[in-house]
Amino acid sequence: MKHPGMINKIIDNVNDVFEWSEENFSKVKNIIEKYPNGRQQSAVIPLLDLAQRQNKGWLHKKAIEKVAETVSMSFIRVLEVATFYSMFNLEPIGKNYIQICRTTPCWLRGSNKLSEVAKDITGCKLGETSNDKKFTVVEVECLGACCNAPMVQINDDYYEDLDENSFRDILKNLAKDNKVKKGSQIGRQSSDPRRDK
Ligand code: FES
Repeated sequence: MKHPGMINKIIDNVNDVFEWSEENFSKVKNIIEKYPNGRQQSAVIPLLDLAQRQNKGWLHKKAIEKVAETVSMSFIRVLEVATFYSMFNLEPIGKNYIQICRTTPCWLRGSNKLSEVAKDITGCKLGETSNDKKFTVVEVECLGACCNAPMVQINDDYYEDLDENSFRDILKNLAKDNKVKKGSQIGRQSSDPRRDK
């Protein structure tokens, strides 16, 4: 399986450019100021995240170079960070970035079935983007919502207590650009014990 964040080759098209937008430039200053003097390089992860958000969800070489320049790090060290964490994408992604948690609690509760549903509805294999660019589907490790397993992250939101039917409905609605219910799909408050059993 190829995860968008796990590629050997960084994308470097001649037409790619990256400069901080005016709005993000002031955010960059605020982020860096959170770190002690001499420790500004610790801002590399939030800055990569900011650059990725500015660049429609992925990082090409010019964007990574800009982050490196901003925190006075070598390009290769910033690339090491960008390739280590699955939250960074080194290829363009679809409108709905589907991250299916496959770690033990979610797997025991059926995450492999959710992956099959995602492949069926989107037409993507794992690590691929659909032809209509609406979906990118990947499997990731624990996203920290194990109490409500199985769960999936779509863009910035969590969808929890899923089963094949509820996940299928969510994906079908996203395919039609309809609104979908976020969070627990069985109405659980936070990680309260389930009351339906
Ligand atoms: S195992 Fe899926 S959120 Fe932790």
